[in-house]
Amino acid sequence: MSSSLHECCLKRSEAIRNEFPMLSVVENGHPMVYFNNAATAMTPKSVINAMTEYYEEYGVNIARGVDAIGYRATHLFEATRVKVADFLGAERSDSVVFTRGTTAALNLVCSSFGNLVVEAGDEIIVSGGEHHANYIPWQQLAKNKGAQLVLAELDEDGKVTPEALQKAMTPKTKLVALFHISNVMGAVHDVKALAKVAHDGGAYFVCDGAQGIVHDQINVVETDVDFYAFSGHKLFGPTGVGVLYGKYDLLKRMPPIEFGGEMISLVDVYDTTFADPPHRFEAGTMPIAEVIGLGKAIDYVNRYGYCAMQRRVEYLTSIAVEKLQAQPNVTIYNPHNYASGIICFNIEGIHPHDAAGIYDREGISLRAGHHCSQPMMRELKQFATLRASLAFYNTEEEVERFVEATEMAGDFLDILF
Ligand code: ALA
Repeated sequence: MSSSLHECCLKRSEAIRNEFPMLSVVENGHPMVYFNNAATAMTPKSVINAMTEYYEEYGVNIARGVDAIGYRATHLFEATRVKVADFLGAERSDSVVFTRGTTAALNLVCSSFGNLVVEAGDEIIVSGGEHHANYIPWQQLAKNKGAQLVLAELDEDGKVTPEALQKAMTPKTKLVALFHISNVMGAVHDVKALAKVAHDGGAYFVCDGAQGIVHDQINVVETDVDFYAFSGHKLFGPTGVGVLYGKYDLLKRMPPIEFGGEMISLVDVYDTTFADPPHRFEAGTMPIAEVIGLGKAIDYVNRYGYCAMQRRVEYLTSIAVEKLQAQPNVTIYNPHNYASGIICFNIEGIHPHDAAGIYDREGISLRAGHHCSQPMMRELKQFATLRASLAFYNTEEEVERFVEATEMAGDFLDILF
């Protein structure tokens, strides 16, 4: 790289980092290296400011007030629904239900739609690569209904190929629930091809987009998913808010699972008629500031662009993987999955939690454990792993510090004995 190009890249990277206040945090005396983006990404000022503005200028409830301030809040809330629908490529904004996050969205599909369509003797296909949020609900539904949970086979990169899904399908398959990008292995699914296999076999297709929404732009119409769930906080937005996209005719068939304010049409003495979707599924006061913040996060992503973000993520992840591979005591379980920014690995002779302590001492934040995917740990035959997850605002220098800390953790046994 020529020195002027290098300088230009640095300035750009500095300007981006300045938009994220948390990136200046000091941890254990070091500027924090934040490599835990798959858990929660950092939030830019534009999102924080939008939420502050709500609380400082028009922080009232929505859909209830008949005054101008209530109208402003309702308008911005509902305008975000339209923005989310556009972002997903959805045909109509009332296909977008706001939830507490991906977990709540997947539980909603399962408790409402799953409960409606799954019968005794049916089969539900998931994979061993799912996050618990897209595994336990289906497991419990199968158990309660006398249905069968079936695991589609994972390939060596940790994904279900369309051929593997085809192999798992039977005439009894009622529903397929798979991740878009896996939170442990970072494997990327061909969502369109998988949805087609499910539909050709007469099954519904539910997609957990918690990680996918960050790295692989989804078009719900082109991919033909029946349901797609994601969270705000992994997409540089706030915590406490997420989305369930559903095909409208399916949402229309679904009963609500929570009852309360602003989800009804008429409450009679002994029965109630519910509002149409999406409001039927949004009982009680919603996370208004967070929904508005999510809208700003989507603006941020649109402004920066998936392509530019992904170029950075893939570049940084590839250099980190290459440097870790040069360390003989490091095992990387997903050496080919750069697109997700996720590196799943272990260091010989040191428990991942102890290693995480060494990284922390060096100011490096990453995740250690089973990553809310014990089925995946079983597939890997490990109790736990380390997981570094990179974002577009990370830097080469941070990768360097991470690599040095890995070497240090690798010397743990020498330090100890
Ligand atoms: N689901 C998040 C993760 O994988 C919390 O870390």
